[in-house]
Amino acid sequence: MIHIKSAEEIEKMRDACKVVRDTLLFVGDRIKAGMTTKEVDDLVYRYITSCGAIPSELGYEGYPASSCVSVNDVVVHGIPSDDKIIMDGDIVSVDITAEKNGYNGDAARTFLIGNVSEEKRKLVKVTEECFFKALEGLQDGTPLYDIGYAVQTHAESHGYGVVKALTGHGIGRDMHEDPAVPNFGRKGTGVRLKAGMTICIEPMITLGTWKVWQDAKDGWTVRTNDGKPAAHYENTVLITKTGTEILTL
Ligand code: MF3
Ligand code: CO
Ligand code: CO
Repeated sequence: MIHIKSAEEIEKMRDACKVVRDTLLFVGDRIKAGMTTKEVDDLVYRYITSCGAIPSELGYEGYPASSCVSVNDVVVHGIPSDDKIIMDGDIVSVDITAEKNGYNGDAARTFLIGNVSEEKRKLVKVTEECFFKALEGLQDGTPLYDIGYAVQTHAESHGYGVVKALTGHGIGRDMHEDPAVPNFGRKGTGVRLKAGMTICIEPMITLGTWKVWQDAKDGWTVRTNDGKPAAHYENTVLITKTGTEILTL
């Protein structure tokens, strides 16, 4: 069931989303080569809780941390670890969800660490562009799969892969609500978006194959099949009568 948020609920969403945005800015100012991914997670936990919010990834379906920190070929759901050291030249996606006053915000950024190759920089840039392409013309009444169509068209025009195994989603009281928001699709199809819907649009784009696998050892880590890098960019978006509002930017 798709929840349409009331004006009051939207105000609470704004609050949660502001925590998410500020946490990512806080992390972005500090993340650097030599840190472990666990140290990044500590920053996330510290900042979110200092805002009087809850890191809702912690304990979500048994997830053991407050953030997903995914390095290079890890697409999403990288579990922060004391053993994983961030290196110069890495791309590191940090995906966080925070709950405040019973509502969630969710966003991800892919950070460039030090001297990053042109190839990886471009992947990160195009992944962000995919998100903004998806917003073009988006408003009350737009068919849902226009989002995926826009993401896929832009990514594939650069020869990149679009991850199909994971999708964006509605968000609100729950981190994941209906509808699923795929990064691929046929224009003009899917349910129509309505003003008051809050959804996460989150392109996951790869330099090589779009195929991914999930590590059975930890039950979470999603990697590209060919070991090539992937980027992730996500925001929580409110649909309005005349367009959209990005709540986590
Ligand atoms: N924030 C993620 C998303 O974009 C969910 C992370 S899964 C968790 O949907 F287990 F880490 F919570
Ligand atoms: Co997320
Ligand atoms: Co999400």
